[in-house]
Amino acid sequence: MEAGEEQADNTTTVRVDLAERSYDIIIGEDLLASAGHYLSPILARPRVVIVSDETVAGIHLVALQASLNAAGIDNDAIIVPPGEGSKNFAQLQLLLDRLLELRVERRDTILALGGGVIGDLAGFAAAILRRGIDFIQLPTTLLSQVDSSVGGKTAINAAQGKNLIGAFYQPRLVLADVTALASLPARELRAGYGEVVKYGLIDDFAFFEWLEENGADLLAGSTDALRHAVAVSCRSKAAIVARDEREKGDRALLNLGHTFAHALEAEASYDGRVLHGEAVAVGLGMAFTLSTRLGLCPSQDGERVRRHLAAMDLPIESGQLGLAGLTAETMLAHMRQDKKVSDNQLTFILANGIGRSFVAKDVGEDKVREMLQDALQSGKAGK
Ligand code: NAD
Ligand code: GLY
Repeated sequence: MEAGEEQADNTTTVRVDLAERSYDIIIGEDLLASAGHYLSPILARPRVVIVSDETVAGIHLVALQASLNAAGIDNDAIIVPPGEGSKNFAQLQLLLDRLLELRVERRDTILALGGGVIGDLAGFAAAILRRGIDFIQLPTTLLSQVDSSVGGKTAINAAQGKNLIGAFYQPRLVLADVTALASLPARELRAGYGEVVKYGLIDDFAFFEWLEENGADLLAGSTDALRHAVAVSCRSKAAIVARDEREKGDRALLNLGHTFAHALEAEASYDGRVLHGEAVAVGLGMAFTLSTRLGLCPSQDGERVRRHLAAMDLPIESGQLGLAGLTAETMLAHMRQDKKVSDNQLTFILANGIGRSFVAKDVGEDKVREMLQDALQSGKAGK
């Protein structure tokens, strides 16, 4: 399966084609340790500030800085606490203050070293500091390598909901080092896998079949499987983003399962009990259940999706998330805060089958409520 352009240095490059904002995603092994080599041609001047979290910095910062130093790239680092709690105004302000104290100039570059939290926070800071400075994504979780580091969505959370304050702001380069995933806790790797499966479900049945065959190897840490899955996922996301950078249409497909997932995460108050990719896994099941109940999708397809997610040890029922008191009404209330609400109408991503997803703007709330009531009552995303 062709997943991107193979390079002589054993990396795969996927291009995100956005006219003057185009950039490469380079996927390979040991890329953090050779980051200086890949960054030098891109930087407007050889000065960067690395933004990372305490956990990632403790493991990967030394190798990155050694590589930057060897390439003559002046660098500082700003370290924030790990976790979703850092995607807020207080951390953003601290980060901006620190960047200004370091006298970051317009031709300097921010390096986001970490998972989706760091990419979203540092990317948003880059978007607004001095009206925008360059940033480069160095994603270190599976979720960030296949999704959040690509496509330019940056944001922090608000009390009213997730990712409600942010900007579309594309990075100059993404370096996805699959060897960095070796230090990722197994639960985080699995959660990222929820987003990988999403690409098979949107429009790539063959990739879903490949995942059924190779998912276990991938989760066991096979670098070949990881490289292939990251490349296919990035190629798929790059194509969608190139068609619809600002989510006026097709890009909403990337939100398959996410309307439900964001409601589940909001219910957990983003406190770490429910990981984003775990909520997405449950949400994918709910999207297929809703599609089946609307008469759009054979029930076997939803069952096959849930079977695979469960085999990969991902949650498929809201009851597995430990959210006491979750009701259809609380979920609907969270969903009404979703960015995908337009004219008071929620957008859902539905499916005619595995690999055949589409955007639907005319789903009645009563149908969604019925599905949620049944799913929550039985503790299952689908019956
Ligand atoms: P994360 O950034 O919180 O990382 C998960 C945990 O893993 C953290 O504790 C982190 O310290 C640790 N970690 C990261 N890399 C590690 C490594 N290599 N070794 C050991 N530990 C490591 O979470 P995430 O799952 O990467 O991202 C979730 C965030 O991404 C959410 O805020 C979500 O909203 C956002 N997101 C954004 C987009 C987008 O398009 N911008 C898309 C999907 C998700
Ligand atoms: N993760 C959804 C998007 O980038 O559009």
